[in-house]
Amino acid sequence: MKAIFLKEPGSTENFIYKEVPQPSISDDEVLVKVKSISINPIDIKTRKGQGVFIYANLDPTKELILGWDISGYVFQSNSNLFKPGDEVFGMVNFLGVGAAYAEFVAAPASHLTHKPNNISHSEAAGATLAALTAWQNLVKRARIKSGDRVLIHAAAGGVGHYAVQIAKHFGAYVIGTSSAANRDFVLSIGADEHIDYKAQKLTESVKNVDFVLECLDNQSILDSIEVIKPGGRLISILNEISQEAKDKADIKSIETAYTTVISSGSDMKSIAEFLRSGAIESHISKEFAFDKMAEAHSELEKGRAVGKIAIIL
Ligand SMILES: NC(=O)c1ccc[n+]([C@@H]2O[C@H](COP(=O)([O-])OP(=O)(O)OC[C@H]3O[C@@H](n4cnc5c(N)ncnc54)[C@H](OP(=O)(O)O)[C@@H]3O)[C@@H](O)[C@H]2O)c1
Repeated sequence: MKAIFLKEPGSTENFIYKEVPQPSISDDEVLVKVKSISINPIDIKTRKGQGVFIYANLDPTKELILGWDISGYVFQSNSNLFKPGDEVFGMVNFLGVGAAYAEFVAAPASHLTHKPNNISHSEAAGATLAALTAWQNLVKRARIKSGDRVLIHAAAGGVGHYAVQIAKHFGAYVIGTSSAANRDFVLSIGADEHIDYKAQKLTESVKNVDFVLECLDNQSILDSIEVIKPGGRLISILNEISQEAKDKADIKSIETAYTTVISSGSDMKSIAEFLRSGAIESHISKEFAFDKMAEAHSELEKGRAVGKIAIIL
């Protein structure tokens, strides 16, 4: 099979395409023939020697196959959850080695679920790490409910565009931030209100928020705390909460946390149901061929992605 190896941490020039044997599968694993991969900012951080290199204590002198988000079909199965031919998708082995930049991926069956028939493999691959992040934080941790005022930062991006749709589905009043260029997109996916972060000061434009999904810097966390109502909640997915932010939150009894997404087939099943019913949709703004992974990384690295970027095989 073809696979993309990172020969050492660094630029996209360190990707090497190799022909290697298909991975073998252990008990309770399936071998997935990959049809689409999605990429995330963590792929870029890890490519540069940060991200999962640090979290999983990986050896930077050893070659690594990056990637976690796949959609495809089961080629071989050592699990009673899936049989050969089943279409599946999921985020494989996060925060470890997913080895998803390959034609075949060995995946724990417990990290996957069946792909809905009404969506493409790219739409499925997109709705893995980013959708799980939105789901695990909004639904499982924050338990958002009808009438909550929810602020989603970077609402046009991978995580943000699922978070807006999920919050809206649960009946929240959704406020989304993006540049003016993505205003219409953010409103089109269900936000009730849009904040143009370049033209509007958050602290003057928003108030009485119950929950914030934060993915920006410490200053943004401080500003978000200012617009949360007493007893509200903030989850940061980019930065740990600084002592300054904790102290500011404590004054208003605001609960803060930094969280990391984890692989979960049962959460993927919930996401699949939402995709099947149309409650959420993946917006794939760009697709790249497998031999254009470097271009796909460069595009995502600009930080301007709308929805998701997918790689097709
Ligand atoms: N802890 C976790 O488990 C976890 C999981 C997933 C992601 N993350 C992190 O969360 C962040 C977002 O991930 P992602 O996949 O959504 O990234 P992404 O798709 O690359 O985000 C791109 C979007 O960010 C928006 N953006 C950039 N600067 C902004 C700002 N100052 N205010 C509002 N929007 C802004 C851009 O909109 P404009 O072009 O309109 O500015 C663009 O649409 C990343 O840092 C990622 O590493 C963490």
